[in-house]
Amino acid sequence: MSVSALLASLSPSLVAVAPAASRARRNGTSRSRRWSVGVFGLRGSLGMEDDSPNLSPFLRKLFKEWDDRKARGLFHHDISSCQTKVLPGEHNFVATLIEGRDQKKRPTEFGMNQVLQPFESGKFNFTKVSPEEIIFRFQESENDSAQYFDDAPHTVSSSPSAILINVSPIGYCHVLLIPRIQDCLPQRIDQESFLLAMHVAREATDPFFRVGYNSLGGFATINHLHFQAYYLKVQYPVEKASTEKLTTLSNGVSVALLVQYPVCGFAFEGGTCLEALSDVVSKICIFLQESNRPFNVLISECGKRVFLLPQCYAEKQLAGKASQEFLDMRINPAIWELSGHLILKRRKDYDEASEATIFRFLVEASLSDTEFQELKRCVLDLLAGGAGRNSWINS
Ligand SMILES: *[C@@H]1O[C@H](CO)[C@@H](O)[C@H](O)[C@H]1NC(C)=O
Ligand SMILES: *[C@@H]1O[C@H](CO)[C@@H](O)[C@H](O)[C@H]1NC(C)=O
Ligand SMILES: *[C@@H]1O[C@H](CO)[C@@H](O)[C@H](O)[C@H]1NC(C)=O
Repeated sequence: MSVSALLASLSPSLVAVAPAASRARRNGTSRSRRWSVGVFGLRGSLGMEDDSPNLSPFLRKLFKEWDDRKARGLFHHDISSCQTKVLPGEHNFVATLIEGRDQKKRPTEFGMNQVLQPFESGKFNFTKVSPEEIIFRFQESENDSAQYFDDAPHTVSSSPSAILINVSPIGYCHVLLIPRIQDCLPQRIDQESFLLAMHVAREATDPFFRVGYNSLGGFATINHLHFQAYYLKVQYPVEKASTEKLTTLSNGVSVALLVQYPVCGFAFEGGTCLEALSDVVSKICIFLQESNRPFNVLISECGKRVFLLPQCYAEKQLAGKASQEFLDMRINPAIWELSGHLILKRRKDYDEASEATIFRFLVEASLSDTEFQELKRCVLDLLAGGAGRNSWINS
């Protein structure tokens, strides 16, 4: 089975290029967390322009299709006219102003206190979107040659995966990846779907295109399995945060903690292959789900690094423990916010945004140090082959 070949099939020109290029890609290696300014300096706007001669065929195709959907007027707002700025300070948080975004979004239709919830037929699901919102559909075939459907009907037995536009984008090329769309899977990580998301990040071959995941209770707004991705030409604060190594597993995957970052979390990298890294992360996600702990995931550096950030903001909101200042701002700490890209909805908040304010907000969304230390012990136990949960008293 080759998911890489499958993604390669997204455009005919990719078939020859991508799988070989993927195999040739190096393992994650340790390096300075601050990417070189030459590569990551802010040239012009933070994403729109397609000025890179090295754009992968996959991204080139994605940009083209996204621009086409924009020309057709399918988006709720024009993201290219929304302001984005990098805040001064140690972390360089990124803020984007999208006034009134939450009023136009599809409403959240489930409780925020359960990470695993069954798929409900009566609620919105992605099979309902207009066909115009679909950019790609793809699936694997038994003979290992990938199939790409443009407008073809679903004649193949298994359900293809799809990439759709996000009609309420927070960045250029904001899309949704829906594994096996017709199967209507609930929002929960499984090994295979997570690997698919890792492959999408790898095929993009561009660190400015990240793939993210929000669990239920972690500010996912639709209970139909989906990942998100968009292109923003800036290094995220979480990506340049310092880390402290915890352990290296037998498959070569290194597990580290974020340090001096407002959100407690794990950073994973390395491993003998993409699957090794993917399997470690999905195993912990599954553990968190089964423990009813909301979390968010950022697949970074083309699938070479993954951040796993547990959070408890919805729990604080429900318990009446969230501070009014941030409730008034209506910021939802999904994976992008936790990674340091904040979507602000009021002009005032955007104009007054400061590192100190954003930092306090993210600390509020994060687990406390004590809670995180306990989780860390459970995760290490799990990775060492234990059950993980024995020592974790679920409050
Ligand atoms: C998904 O939504 C469609 C359109 O409303 C509906 O017909 C279908 O039953 C839903 N799927 C499931 C599995 O509930
Ligand atoms: C693989 O199978 C598909 C149908 O499932 C067929 O269309 C295609 O030609 C096959 N490719 C090869 C290389 O055999
Ligand atoms: C990737 O890492 C593994 C284990 O650390 C090592 O055996 C392998 O040679 C590495 N491959 C490359 C291309 O560096």
